[in-house]
Amino acid sequence: MTENATLDDIQLSEPDDSALLRLRDISAGYGKITILHGINIDVREGEIVCVIGPNGAGKSTAFKAVYGFVTTSQGKIHFGDSEITNNEPEQVIQHGITFVPQGRSTFPQMTVDENLELGMYLVRDKARIRKAKERIYEMFPRLGERKTQLAGTMSGGEQRMLEIGRALMLQPRMIMLDEPSAGLAPVISKQVFAMVKRMNEDFGITVFMVEQNARQGLEISHRGYVLEAGRNRFEGTGQALMNSQAVQRLYLGAGH
Ligand SMILES: Nc1ncnc2c1ncn2[C@@H]1O[C@H](COP(=O)(O)OP(=O)(O)O)[C@@H](O)[C@H]1O
Ligand SMILES: [Mg+2]
Repeated sequence: MTENATLDDIQLSEPDDSALLRLRDISAGYGKITILHGINIDVREGEIVCVIGPNGAGKSTAFKAVYGFVTTSQGKIHFGDSEITNNEPEQVIQHGITFVPQGRSTFPQMTVDENLELGMYLVRDKARIRKAKERIYEMFPRLGERKTQLAGTMSGGEQRMLEIGRALMLQPRMIMLDEPSAGLAPVISKQVFAMVKRMNEDFGITVFMVEQNARQGLEISHRGYVLEAGRNRFEGTGQALMNSQAVQRLYLGAGH
């Protein structure tokens, strides 16, 4: 797809069986209520893939389906060589996927260092924990300067950085971020997106994220998916989606 692609060029693409994460024809919901109606998403190794769409479209539910927080009633999810459909969250972590949920999740009364350690709470090997923390401090020097600071006293952007750092402690093959910019002032969310881009480019981390802030999310993404009412609506490169008149009108206009 060219840089100048427009909506007319955007079609739902063929599934890529070589992708790292593959959601195929996934239906899922809560109890008897079906929210996702057969969605398809691929995330290739090394990509940033962003899911956008209106409130209630099922973006977080798609994430929960991958992570085993909701039951998939139809379709299959594969990660690398493994099928992970309806795996327990603990198994999903073992496969190399970690998750930063929507909303705040740092422990405010604990230090930055302790918050990071919680990302490895199942690991007993102290040397391994120390090494993992050093890697995070290299990735996010701002956190390194604040090792002993209580998380609750840090700014919103720094706390988001800490949440992401904690999710990277286990050195996942892919990190999932549900609305990393939510609740942050525009200038801070810009910094968070820059940080996500940097950890992808400089540290090779595959990123699967959901964003309400469609424009900024797509700007740093290799590819994007638009979900609407639990179905795939559009997909394409981040650039093509941003250039698409329909996507602009529906999702990138004033107020988005
Ligand atoms: N725990 C839940 N129980 C029942 N319905 C839910 C639950 N969580 C979300 N929903 C419903 O599922 C739909 C999709 O929600 P969600 O996936 O959170 O949307 P999005 O992340 O795109 O805003 C919404 O109609 C929402 O009300
Ligand atoms: Mg959501």
